Amino acid sequence: MTPLPRLDGALCVVTGGTSGIGYGAALGLARLGAELVLPSRDLERGEHTAAAIRKQTGATVWVRGCDLGALSSVREFAEGYLRTFRRADVLVNSAGALFPTRQLTPDGFEATLAIDYLGPFLLTRSLLPALARAGRVGAPARIVNVSGEYHRRVRLDLDDLQLERGYGLVRAGAQAVLAKLMFTVELARRLPPGVTANAVHPGAVRSGLLRNLPWPLRIAAALARPFMLGPEAGAETVLYLAASPDVAEVSGGYFARCAPLEPAAHALDPEACRRLWEASAALTEGARGLTNALRG
Ligand SMILES: NC(=O)c1ccc[n+]([C@@H]2O[C@H](COP(=O)([O-])OP(=O)(O)OC[C@H]3O[C@@H](n4cnc5c(N)ncnc54)[C@H](OP(=O)(O)O)[C@@H]3O)[C@@H](O)[C@H]2O)c1
Repeated sequence: MTPLPRLDGALCVVTGGTSGIGYGAALGLARLGAELVLPSRDLERGEHTAAAIRKQTGATVWVRGCDLGALSSVREFAEGYLRTFRRADVLVNSAGALFPTRQLTPDGFEATLAIDYLGPFLLTRSLLPALARAGRVGAPARIVNVSGEYHRRVRLDLDDLQLERGYGLVRAGAQAVLAKLMFTVELARRLPPGVTANAVHPGAVRSGLLRNLPWPLRIAAALARPFMLGPEAGAETVLYLAASPDVAEVSGGYFARCAPLEPAAHALDPEACRRLWEASAALTEGARGLTNALRG
């Protein structure tokens, strides 16, 4: 594996940067010299994280408000981003949440789907003009979506994306990582030249996600904790996809441990990926004005 190059001057947007894999990714990118923008639903937590990253790396870090569970907040963040920063070299979609019981967001969506997938879907499409701008002037801009092996455990039911017919925390989390993987496959097909998109299985990572598990799973997670990866090790493949020259031209792939991994066949079904894209676009409608850099 070629050593990761310096990213001095690169501007990287990292969601979920306050915790877990997103924090590991933000820190790693900052160590490589990148400047960071951290969309954060809690500005105080975001600033606290930014200060910790600045202290360890000397990097320039901006924090901007963005609640991925509210489409209006995602739109506001994206519009502000395009006005202020104009370009983005890397977008890491790592934010996520799990809920023991079915919750609805202000937009009326099941919360796991909204925060882990629909918000990032809208964010990514909305930041496309900034990514396309970076891609034109230098190395391809890169989108890295944190998915996971749980995608193998579910099939997407487009008639019940909101899990009205039967909610479970594991099912909701698995559906969200499957949707992120299928989104990555379809996104890669639609992206203009100069921008790539890949998905990651980070491994089992010690993170804030475990806080919301019901107690039997929490006990299992506590027992497994010593064997789980820390945030920086959990972000290794994210960093690889964001920075390595080895994958500069690779798009639409799924990676674990810095190597390609074959996803479940149902995650690659072109018709299902297309239908998910269309359903997601309809659910997040209003993004269209910002997304003319994308086909469809
Ligand atoms: N951990 C694992 O073993 C594992 C395995 C496979 C896949 N994954 C995937 O990896 C992703 C990251 O998980 P993690 O383990 O790093 O979790 P984590 O430590 O709990 O971090 C989640 C991040 O998402 C942010 N977030 C939550 N709700 C948000 C919202 N409404 N708007 C904006 N940001 C929000 C959190 O911000 P706050 O600080 O504001 O809460 C936090 O920064 C998830 O999508 C998960 O599905 C994780």
